[in-house]
Amino acid sequence: MEQSKKRVLSGIQPSGNLTIGNYLGALRQWVVEQDSYECYFCIVDMHAITVQQDPGSLRAKTREVAALYLASGLDPERVTIFVQSHVPAHAELGWILICQSPLGWLYRMTQFKDKAAKQQQDSVGAGLLNYPALMAADILLYQAHAVPVGDDQRQHLEFTRDLAQRFNALYGDTFIIPEAMIPKAGARIMGLDNPTAKMSKSEASEYHAVYMLDAPNMVKKKVMRAVTDSFGEIRFSSEPERAGVNNLLTIYQALTNQSNADIEEHFAGKGYGDLKKAVVEQINNRLQPLQEKYNRYINEPGYLDQILANGAERASVVAEKTLRLAKERMGFVLPNGK
Ligand code: TRP
Repeated sequence: MEQSKKRVLSGIQPSGNLTIGNYLGALRQWVVEQDSYECYFCIVDMHAITVQQDPGSLRAKTREVAALYLASGLDPERVTIFVQSHVPAHAELGWILICQSPLGWLYRMTQFKDKAAKQQQDSVGAGLLNYPALMAADILLYQAHAVPVGDDQRQHLEFTRDLAQRFNALYGDTFIIPEAMIPKAGARIMGLDNPTAKMSKSEASEYHAVYMLDAPNMVKKKVMRAVTDSFGEIRFSSEPERAGVNNLLTIYQALTNQSNADIEEHFAGKGYGDLKKAVVEQINNRLQPLQEKYNRYINEPGYLDQILANGAERASVVAEKTLRLAKERMGFVLPNGK
């Protein structure tokens, strides 16, 4: 039974509001993966605190993300859903891997550079720099073969692989070397106000992203304001000047599963207003039942917490085993009987 299916691990930070980009680019794919892989999906609260978080909002967002995992169709009977901080092995292996991480590798990470640049230099926390080592711990603890992530996480995945290889070379085979599982370009949703940058859940601008929990009239307001162009042509395109329309088409396609040709034919002779209305309708059709499910979960905190407790228990079994092996390999004296 052990390792009969390949393992998958991924996680989302409980910061900001999950967007349709998180749904279409990640959650929706995870739901498909749960049938063919042994899946671990965590809510990475320890990553969230690498930038300052308000305690009340961190607490609420952690439950919110968990409820959104479930509302999106992840089945807690088949996949392990858990909160990262509930499994202390992440912090422990995280420390071990920090000690194995060359500073040069960490300083090279573009996400570190971007996030650090947004803060006053003396308030950049050391956690932000060490973030990739904790992410490596998340992945390596479960001996994950595949890690579904967005293109922006490719560098962190390379870091994880390099670190695992280095550890294995120094101390003997310990970790599986994971592969990134990056969705095809079509699943990459861009900002509505700036269609050349990925849609982000922590962008302040009101018209940047559609949130998974936006009410239908809010979805409409945001999509109707989305940046387009003055070409007046509805077709898929990789030209930066047409990125806005391409993004709307990408969203439409992700929700309808139609081919490029069928979609272009459908909109032939129509205007951007028609395209936007169609996108609003598709988004709302998808979000409405999802939000109903979400409300049921969020209004039953006891049930949600039980799912997370079960998840942490299952995750711990796997994580502890890897942690013990890593410690043993490095020369830690393990407590008696463990
Ligand atoms: N760094 C990821 C992001 O910002 C979140 C993350 C943390 C993650 N640990 C992970 C993703 C492990 C995949 C696997 O999107």
